[in-house]
Amino acid sequence: MAARHRGLLLWAAAVQAPWLIHCAGLHDGGLRVPTVEIAPGVLMPVLSIGTGGTESHDSAEITQHWLGLGGRGIDTALVYGDQAVVAKTIASAGLQREDVFMTTKIAGCGNTEANVQKDLRDLNTSYVDLMLIHYPMGGNCTEAWGVLEKYHAQGVLKAIGVSNFKRSDLEPLLAAARVVPAVNQIRLNVLDHDDDTVSFTRAHNITVEAYSPLGRDSHKIPKNTAIQGLAV
Ligand SMILES: *[C@@H]1O[C@H](CO)[C@@H](O)[C@H](O)[C@H]1NC(C)=O
Ligand SMILES: *[C@@H]1O[C@H](CO)[C@@H](O)[C@H](O)[C@H]1NC(C)=O
Ligand SMILES: *[C@@H]1O[C@H](CO)[C@@H](O)[C@H](O)[C@H]1NC(C)=O
Repeated sequence: MAARHRGLLLWAAAVQAPWLIHCAGLHDGGLRVPTVEIAPGVLMPVLSIGTGGTESHDSAEITQHWLGLGGRGIDTALVYGDQAVVAKTIASAGLQREDVFMTTKIAGCGNTEANVQKDLRDLNTSYVDLMLIHYPMGGNCTEAWGVLEKYHAQGVLKAIGVSNFKRSDLEPLLAAARVVPAVNQIRLNVLDHDDDTVSFTRAHNITVEAYSPLGRDSHKIPKNTAIQGLAV
């Protein structure tokens, strides 16, 4: 798969114990992406396409190709500034809201209420499958989490989680949380892994989701000769 889709460096990939992976799921007969249960009753495809980073100006094309392949997990964020484009691309592919698994993010821990509302408005949706705090900055993350818990209780956010959280960020949040984060989405690939964060996250039964699982430009995984040696 890595060889066939070498151009797509933006996957977010869930890393989970194999026995938690279900093979039923969201696909249209093309690409069949297994799902993992990240929270009670919430099945997330183990691969989502990322629309952000330096590529967000191409997010219509990226989303359109992914949907065309049969991918149904889409990962966007408030700070990517492309949520309305992503929503339009899904609609023009003839898909209904419930056909896709949508992950989006709020920009840190400030203005949470307003940022959740903006995400919903930009995505033109009444619910988000997985809402993440993008990074543990800007405001009080325990308070931000409380706001996400409120929307979760209302069913507006089907699952809630965090991104770029280390052990020291998770500890205070877990101490106050009523809902344990479903996911911690972190940069994780063979050349770049924070093992302490991974083990702490998994020890709390939080699904580790890797972003840039093939690395980004600085890592040059596709060009790394040691990895190429393993891939053949
Ligand atoms: C871990 O989380 C998953 C997803 O919600 C759940 O199905 C499972 O029962 C949990 N395991 C433990 C040991 O709490
Ligand atoms: C938002 O979604 C509704 C269907 O739920 C659709 O009728 C409407 O055209 C969409 N609006 C935009 C701006 O895409
Ligand atoms: C963050 O908010 C929580 C809940 O209101 C509070 O208990 C905690 O002291 C705050 N943390 C900081 C660093 O202000």
